[in-house]
Amino acid sequence: MNRGVRWISPQEDMKDVCPVFMKRWKSEKKPVKAELTLTALGVYCAYINGKRVSDQVLAPGWTAYGKRLQYQTYDVTALLRMQGENDLEVLVGKGWYRSPMGEQVKPPGSRKRMAMPAGLYGGLRLFYEDGSCEEICTDVSWECGESSVRFSEIYDGEAYDASFASGEKKAVKEFAGPDHTLIPQEGEAVREQEIVYAKEIIRTPAGETVVDFGQEITGYVEFSVNAHEGERIRILHGEVLDAQGNFYRGNYRSARAQIDYTCRDGEQTWHPLLTFFAFRYIKLEMFPRIDEVKTGQFRAIAVYSDMERTGRLFCSDGELNRFFSNVIWGQKCNFLDVPTDCPQRDERLGWTGDAQVFIKAASYNFNVKRFFMKWLRDMKAEQDESGLIPQVVPDYLERGSASAAWGDAAVICPWQMYMAYGDISVLREMYGMMKKWTDYIGNATSEPYLWIGGEHFGDWLGLDAPSGSYKGSSRDDLIASAFYANSVSLVIKAGKALGEDTQKYEKLYSKIVQAFRDRFDGYCTQTEYVLALCFELSPDPERDARRLAEMIREDGSRLRTGFVGTPWLLHALSRHGYTELAYTLLLRREYPSWLYSVRKGATTVWEHWDGIMEDGSFWSDDMNSFNHYAYGAVADWVYEVAAGIRPVEEAPGFGRVRIEPHPDGRLEWLGASLKTKYGEIESVWIRTDKGFRYEISTPVPAEIRIDGTEYKVNAGKYMLYSPVSN
Ligand code: BGC
Repeated sequence: MNRGVRWISPQEDMKDVCPVFMKRWKSEKKPVKAELTLTALGVYCAYINGKRVSDQVLAPGWTAYGKRLQYQTYDVTALLRMQGENDLEVLVGKGWYRSPMGEQVKPPGSRKRMAMPAGLYGGLRLFYEDGSCEEICTDVSWECGESSVRFSEIYDGEAYDASFASGEKKAVKEFAGPDHTLIPQEGEAVREQEIVYAKEIIRTPAGETVVDFGQEITGYVEFSVNAHEGERIRILHGEVLDAQGNFYRGNYRSARAQIDYTCRDGEQTWHPLLTFFAFRYIKLEMFPRIDEVKTGQFRAIAVYSDMERTGRLFCSDGELNRFFSNVIWGQKCNFLDVPTDCPQRDERLGWTGDAQVFIKAASYNFNVKRFFMKWLRDMKAEQDESGLIPQVVPDYLERGSASAAWGDAAVICPWQMYMAYGDISVLREMYGMMKKWTDYIGNATSEPYLWIGGEHFGDWLGLDAPSGSYKGSSRDDLIASAFYANSVSLVIKAGKALGEDTQKYEKLYSKIVQAFRDRFDGYCTQTEYVLALCFELSPDPERDARRLAEMIREDGSRLRTGFVGTPWLLHALSRHGYTELAYTLLLRREYPSWLYSVRKGATTVWEHWDGIMEDGSFWSDDMNSFNHYAYGAVADWVYEVAAGIRPVEEAPGFGRVRIEPHPDGRLEWLGASLKTKYGEIESVWIRTDKGFRYEISTPVPAEIRIDGTEYKVNAGKYMLYSPVSN
């Protein structure tokens, strides 16, 4: 950016009110092109001559602000008046940057950021026909004023006064903002993507007026109203109704998630500009003529990162299809610039563990390469000298400690990006971070070749947790050491793909495997078995898979796994001949299961298997998100095993494909399609009177395996049959 650009902020403290920065100019000559570049300490919304400059929302987005702050550049040529005056106005809200963050998140860094002023930085470049260029940079020649946005923040919501007549122009001051950390937009732009229309107005037993959108979304509500000046609207957001059918938002914890709106006279339509919420229901706490409101007055606008939908799962079972849809919505709702644990309560953080758990499914559902590369660069920037990967990225917790299976995101995520999209530059860029993380473990452990000690989240939310604990019963040391082995094995694969010398890591890997076997010669929980099997640490996989299957069956075909075991559970079974049991878990409708939440009306994926109990009561207020994507990771098993579409490691990015469907007679049909850079792969199986029919379409050479028979085929469409069974 031009050297004359300065960080500016209002000279007077406007407290909670969002300032609007203004610049008026007159072009003497007609520009052939005009480019606006902006960033802010907060989130901004820019207008030229009253028109929004872009449909990108919540810019500049969320990055590891201390190290990286994105700026955006927009072509605004079409918005300029060639004759007369032009107005540029930029509204700045607190966003993530100056958020006090939720109750849980009160590290020193957030206080420092909160103390920063509402800053704006950037300028307009006007290019003329004669080759000259004029620049209008943010500096003290700008003015500012109070806007109608009286308050805006990520967790607490927004207050807007449509009757507020701004006008008074105030001076701005320059300040020393972060100009050495600026980077151009790296992630996918966040935009308004979909509209969900209100389905029903509910009068609850408690006498509340609640609007049901029928689907949980992340974004904001837009409403239309005919009102008198000064009439007030207050809207609260909720994910579910309680057992009595009343509005509920206890699980948002300290996030107020509230809209306050003061009307002007007449018809008006409005939605928040600088914040977002996650909700299926809204409660109209105050609304003009509340008894007469109609569904047509409300729309839920889903806001998420611009990702191309690439994968689809479909089958003959309506509840399973609903679950597939919940996985997709879980991703849309939590892929708003940063992969977050949940989008509603006072958290909404880039939890590394959640992201590594879900990344495979995510990368099949949508093209998330650009989305994740931005986040991985933040991760790399946040990795400290010792190699520690923080629990959340951007590191808003500043705890200075790392957990197994969370920090391993540093290795698992780049590897998955490479497998899904086949771009070696991902590994080239991230290899240093990957190695450093495994080196960190080597220094953090109290015993060589394992990861012993440290503070970990364990098999988070596993159902075998001792009462009162969030952590499943699987041993921390076993989980940590198993992930250590897995990460080192991926570092070796990445190194080989890059042509690096990996001898050091290969030696380390065999020592880890040996140490693991010596130390853990038996497994106690589903998750312990699952990790030993899937990370190839078990000395006798056949025996251990059998024991795992027995353990599950003896427990009434119930899963007990948490965040760490769940994504691998069905893989552990199907890899060792227990596909039928894997399907039993997938198709189970009673608690605990994926479909239990569907039966309880879920429209996104729950954080807990028992978020809502059989009797309609809640697990708790404390930690009960109804929109956590982690358990949606099972979708990767449906793509890779049930439908059977898998990348071939030697040709990542689906340059070649392995297609090995695993049908199950409890479904009539199931299929998946996957758009790759080579074209669309499709694999569907259909139950017939004589067995199964497989319809396969591949744009690349494929290795197809049906009932143990291998077919090597070229690109094309194929129809195959299971041998007829008598
Ligand atoms: C989050 C999780 C996260 C966990 C770490 C929770 O509060 O919501 O998804 O991974 O903390 O244990």
